[in-house]
Amino acid sequence: MISGGEHRMDGAAIIEQLMTTEVRADPYPLYAKALQLGPVTPAGDGMFVASGYAAVNKALRTPAFGVATAEMMSGLEPEFTAHSSLALFGRSILQRNAPDQPRVRSLIASVFTPRRVAALRPAVEKAVAELLDGMAEQGADGSPVDFMDAFAFRLPVGVICELLGVPEQDRYRFRGLASDLTVALEILADLDELTVADRAADELSHYFTELAAERLARPQDDLVSDLARIAAEDDERLSAQELLANLVLLLVAGFETTTNLLGNGLALLFRHPEAAAGLRNGAITPAGFTDEVLRFDSPVQATGRVALADGLDIDGLPIPAGSGVTLLIGAANHDPARYRNPGVFDPTRTDSQPLSFGGGPHFCLGSQLARLEAEVAVPALLDRFPRLAPGGVPTRRDRLVLRGFETLPVTVR
Ligand code: HEM
Repeated sequence: MISGGEHRMDGAAIIEQLMTTEVRADPYPLYAKALQLGPVTPAGDGMFVASGYAAVNKALRTPAFGVATAEMMSGLEPEFTAHSSLALFGRSILQRNAPDQPRVRSLIASVFTPRRVAALRPAVEKAVAELLDGMAEQGADGSPVDFMDAFAFRLPVGVICELLGVPEQDRYRFRGLASDLTVALEILADLDELTVADRAADELSHYFTELAAERLARPQDDLVSDLARIAAEDDERLSAQELLANLVLLLVAGFETTTNLLGNGLALLFRHPEAAAGLRNGAITPAGFTDEVLRFDSPVQATGRVALADGLDIDGLPIPAGSGVTLLIGAANHDPARYRNPGVFDPTRTDSQPLSFGGGPHFCLGSQLARLEAEVAVPALLDRFPRLAPGGVPTRRDRLVLRGFETLPVTVR
């Protein structure tokens, strides 16, 4: 909008700009403008955009702000159901409301327990050591190694596949498939962008249908076996379609985001040698570093909610039933009303509680696992390669919601 000769943003312009390559490359200046408009702003057509920490937190934690389900979306956009990627996510807990979401979430939580996650620590340590060996070998002659491919992708994909029970030989091709499928989680200007996502959804559905049948016939100690058995025993507790959608969700949510946490974290270490020094001498803890990476450059930048009831408000602004709210997690994590000097990367912050894992009914089921992986990986990486350095120009993915690098070359010698 133009007013008085100067460019003025409103809520609609904020949403529009989120879809541009320029903003996807660096969304933080736009977030600052959104925060200046206020913690929550109307964006026209029954839409709102929330950028303040308290506002985003409230929307996440108020169950009457539900997620937009496939049924709601296909009412607005009939073409929606034609896309297998949207349909697949639409059957997962990420995009269901009560009563389905708590029913299925508690089943997943009953097999994906904190004990099972804690028991993974030795396996994570072993995987980290092996991947660092691989990087050392690849970069022994001083040539650049792509950290994203050689480490940041392989660690979390290996760990989640171990938990799920996906055989080792199948793991590598998931990087491309997950990247393609998660286009369906972006804020899209045009549903035609979903061609690659639909293809990936079909392939992953086929893959997990076969794996679930195989594990049902020959169960092992893994999540696919456990969940396939529950679905086979009682369709009302977990339907075959829900099983499939949530296995795919666990796979892609289990590594795309953690891959980006590791990549965003290493890029920050390169920009802040004092943080690397602090981690090496113990002044900064791996947990404190991980929290600050999550806050400063969150692997998940945005999500959305819909007002399911009358009489809701955020920060005193009435949000009528049926309204959609875009929640800018990345902006909330930089809200000056919540964080002192939000633009400063400071791993010694206390009581940070970034909103990067969401909050409330959909709070990330894998936060413990993601933290475990980062807290093991980062110190081991610094320990193993005292002269770790950038090895070329990194490239970012052209994404907003799942923010991370495509390549991040390093030298290890
Ligand atoms: C740094 C890594 C991670 C980040 C930043 C992250 C972030 C998030 C966020 C923001 C949500 C909530 C979305 C919403 O409310 O709309 C979420 C949900 C979820 N995450 Fe994660 N996640 C990470 C790692 C993982 C891992 C390792 C797993 C699994 C092993 C996982 C599994 C899930 C699942 C299943 C949900 C859906 C929960 C529900 O809808 O009830 N995530 N995650």
